[in-house]
Amino acid sequence: MLKNVFNQDKRVELSEQEYREKEMPTLIGTLGFNWNFNLSAYSDSTVIKTPETWFRGLYNSKSRLVSEDYLLNFRTGASNLSMSMGVSLFNNNPYIAATLANREAQDDPNDLIELPKPSNLKTSLSATIKARRSKRSYSGQRMSLKELATLLHHAQGITGEQDVAHFDATVTLGKKNTVQTRAAPSGGGLYPIDLYFLAMNVADLTPGVYRYSPYYHAVALVKNLEAEINNDETKAKLIEQLGHFEGWQVNKCNLFFMYVYRLLVNSRKYADSGLAFGLIEVGCTSQNVHLASTAMLLASCDAGSYSKSGIEKLIGIDGLTEHLVHFTIIGKENIE
Ligand SMILES: Cc1cc2nc3c(=O)[nH]c(=O)nc-3n(C[C@H](O)[C@H](O)[C@H](O)COP(=O)(O)O)c2cc1C
Repeated sequence: MLKNVFNQDKRVELSEQEYREKEMPTLIGTLGFNWNFNLSAYSDSTVIKTPETWFRGLYNSKSRLVSEDYLLNFRTGASNLSMSMGVSLFNNNPYIAATLANREAQDDPNDLIELPKPSNLKTSLSATIKARRSKRSYSGQRMSLKELATLLHHAQGITGEQDVAHFDATVTLGKKNTVQTRAAPSGGGLYPIDLYFLAMNVADLTPGVYRYSPYYHAVALVKNLEAEINNDETKAKLIEQLGHFEGWQVNKCNLFFMYVYRLLVNSRKYADSGLAFGLIEVGCTSQNVHLASTAMLLASCDAGSYSKSGIEKLIGIDGLTEHLVHFTIIGKENIE
């Protein structure tokens, strides 16, 4: 029960719902009157806030500034007991074996769609880093499956093997006693980030949601959206479900990349640090995507204005143990 903040002399008990319905509009109206801009719908989202946004977020937020809470309470290091215990458990062979074998067993190759061999990109790294820019307009031309395969491989593809033969020989790590390592680094090599994408316009690929399987360099169909994407009206509705992208040629893009953090994959080892490690992996992976796009003359741009719940619903993840944490739009570059 919350106390009425106005009419201090006539205090009444209100339920939270009554408070939100009766008191908040007046409070927000009064405060908003003195500020020259509207109350932001994003005042509780992950941005650094000025004191006034923080104050408004306090009254408007349902999640109560969760990003500040997280960062303020985030502690790591040798004195972090839950992390030390998790790490020491993971030094036991069965834990390592179970985790890594699970990652490999996530996909059944019979259910996957094979991708073509990725191309090797030959542009100089310095030139590519200098040329990378966020680009928001697209030509609407179709993308080839080979281009998609090349992007996915450079994002998260298997690029090496780490020998773990020093572990107990009775431990089963799938086919061999090696861990397959990927293009982007990952805390403990646990790879908690799954790369989903919405294929809007890719040759030889039914429009829909897919998840990349690095181990097989293949994709799993999550949701067929051919009918929705081939109809202008339902396509516009689908894009609306993804977020707000005003001034952006989203209806001409080829791909939406969606990065999903699966917290149980690495937080059993790293406890509270798992989320931070997962987000770092997303940053590394998405930079690979941008650099590969630049080298392939594609246009890419991250978007913070996506709808987390709308996309999670679309791709069928729960928003509890699996979270959408990043979103990138990719298309054939409009060079006119
Ligand atoms: C996490 C993240 C979210 C972003 N969100 C948006 C966005 O919602 N809209 C947008 O136009 N650009 C967005 N960007 C792109 C930045 O605006 C862009 O990277 C920045 O202006 C620097 O330009 P450059 O990428 O061309 O170097 C985002 C970038 C990142 C890393």
